[in-house]
Amino acid sequence: MTLIEDLKRIEGEALARIAQTEDLASLDAARVEFLGKKGSLTGVLRGLGALSTEERPAVGKVSNEVRQAIEAAIEERKAMLAQAELAERMSAGAVDVTLPGRKRLPGRAHLISQITAEVVDIFAGLGYQVAEGPEVELAHYNFTALNHPPTHPARAATDTFYVSDAGGSGREGDPESDVLLRTHTSPVQVRVLEQQKPPVYVIVPGRVYRRDIADPSHLPQFHQIEGLAVEEGITFGDLKGTLDHVCRELFGRDRKTRFRPHFFPFTEPSAEVDVSCGICVGSGCRFCKNTGWLEILGCGMVDPNVFGYVDIDPERHVGFAFGMGVERIAALRYDIPDLRMLVEGDMRFLRQF
Ligand code: DAH
Repeated sequence: MTLIEDLKRIEGEALARIAQTEDLASLDAARVEFLGKKGSLTGVLRGLGALSTEERPAVGKVSNEVRQAIEAAIEERKAMLAQAELAERMSAGAVDVTLPGRKRLPGRAHLISQITAEVVDIFAGLGYQVAEGPEVELAHYNFTALNHPPTHPARAATDTFYVSDAGGSGREGDPESDVLLRTHTSPVQVRVLEQQKPPVYVIVPGRVYRRDIADPSHLPQFHQIEGLAVEEGITFGDLKGTLDHVCRELFGRDRKTRFRPHFFPFTEPSAEVDVSCGICVGSGCRFCKNTGWLEILGCGMVDPNVFGYVDIDPERHVGFAFGMGVERIAALRYDIPDLRMLVEGDMRFLRQF
């Protein structure tokens, strides 16, 4: 009965091998090895013909049992391996649906742009038109035509970025054709009056540059909004009424304004305007340096000398002008302790506005 023993041995080997397979490919190799055309079981069954007719049924029965046992073991192992492979593929390409998604934050205008738009809007409501001028400017427009004498400290190289020549450094040169980064938006007053005849009502937003080291209250590059009104019969009262209105729109109905005499070369008389402190409501606190007031802009009646540069008759036309710093308005409105925060680009700060 060596054939039956062979069959039993093959069954034992096959079951052991099948149990050891670790993937579907090696399982299939085992199937071929034991059940294939050239497999060991087939090999044993070839010897069946040599048996007597009495022996044959018994061997045939065992061989069937062995084949069925091996096939059953293969099917069982196959199901197990397929399950394991699926589980592995799932965990390899796993998507953790409990992770938070990646948010795309919507963009928005920078606070300085927002306030600029707001101020322009207020003046649009008063009939003003927007004008603009170059940031790289001639000394003629930035200083000379605005009645700054050659000795004015703002013309010094220490206060202004010159693009060409030495500016007010005292070197020889043509101070008229010096090119510089404008120190204020006021030169646009002159440019507008060269192009337009009165009545003129313009509002001029823009960037300006000064040789200041950045600190809590200074930036070397900042923004101003200039205003200019020229017509017959305008008075300082019109200027006051206009700026009163604008301050209340910007800071709130309850705020008061105060005009303090000041000096600017291109306006006469000139004033600085303060708005009452919103934190202490005028009684004095650290924010307003105990004065109850916060300075917000410069203004005045256009100096007749300026009209002389643009061929407008100062006997007939009168004008007022004003200029405000946008960063300063932002700081006053939102209690921003350091102007540098406006240019650092920290979204935690900027998103608040
Ligand atoms: N240009 C001045 C500055 O930068 C501000 C200013 C003052 C503008 C008086 C004006 C004005 O138009 O009338 O300090």
